Amino acid sequence: MNRKYRKTIIAGNWKMNKTLTETKAFADEIKPQLGKHKWCEVVLCVPFVNIPAAVRMFKDTRVAIGAENVHFEDHGAFTGEVTAEMLKEVGVKYVIIGHSERREYYGETDFTVNKKIKAALAAGLHPIVCVGESLEQRELGVTAELINYQVKCALSGLDASQMRKVVIAYEPLWAIGTGKTATAEQANEVCEIIRGIIRHQFGARVARAVTIQYGGSMNAKNAAELLAQPDVDGGLIGGAALKVPDFLQIIAAANQE
Ligand code: PGA
Repeated sequence: MNRKYRKTIIAGNWKMNKTLTETKAFADEIKPQLGKHKWCEVVLCVPFVNIPAAVRMFKDTRVAIGAENVHFEDHGAFTGEVTAEMLKEVGVKYVIIGHSERREYYGETDFTVNKKIKAALAAGLHPIVCVGESLEQRELGVTAELINYQVKCALSGLDASQMRKVVIAYEPLWAIGTGKTATAEQANEVCEIIRGIIRHQFGARVARAVTIQYGGSMNAKNAAELLAQPDVDGGLIGGAALKVPDFLQIIAAANQE
């Protein structure tokens, strides 16, 4: 974290979990325990159908609600899809774009990621853009090249003021949902590479201000160590964001004085 220059963001990615009833139970349990979390922004990215209710449930808190996906067109014959404007209107602030599960199961590419980022920005949303290498790619020693390619494609055509609204999440595929976390050094190394790419493209001031999260089995135990790294500005958290005590501990780790 570097609180002087950029926001720390702890974002839960609920994926395809929690019914409306379960969402309400989570809100009722966490709200009295949230405290001020003055050093970090807290976001919950929930399934589409539960977004309006989640926005209402967290209205009197500083927790922002996010979506887990968005389409890149602004209307039309795209059965089952949702536009950025629709999300904005129901109170969404952040949207996850290019999560590895969407890339793997739903054919998302670096080019659709780029289009989705532009659509999200045009609607006034903050994209949380996911990048990350597979175990095979890491072992081949092409992590830096791959990240460079993904980040450049994703951010292509953006200007500096747009870039300031983007959050990047470094999520090594081999760490997602596996319980196998990157070491703090590994996480920081790639987050630093990402900041370098942004610096090259948008300048030092923008690079310094961009929030770069780590994601992949971040939990109550390892969060403090990961967040202590200078270039790790938060977390995108799956499994541990489904449990109130675990998520609260991660938030607390981001708020340590
Ligand atoms: P995980 O998921 O924390 O369960 O590994 C992270 C993510 O996929 O964003």
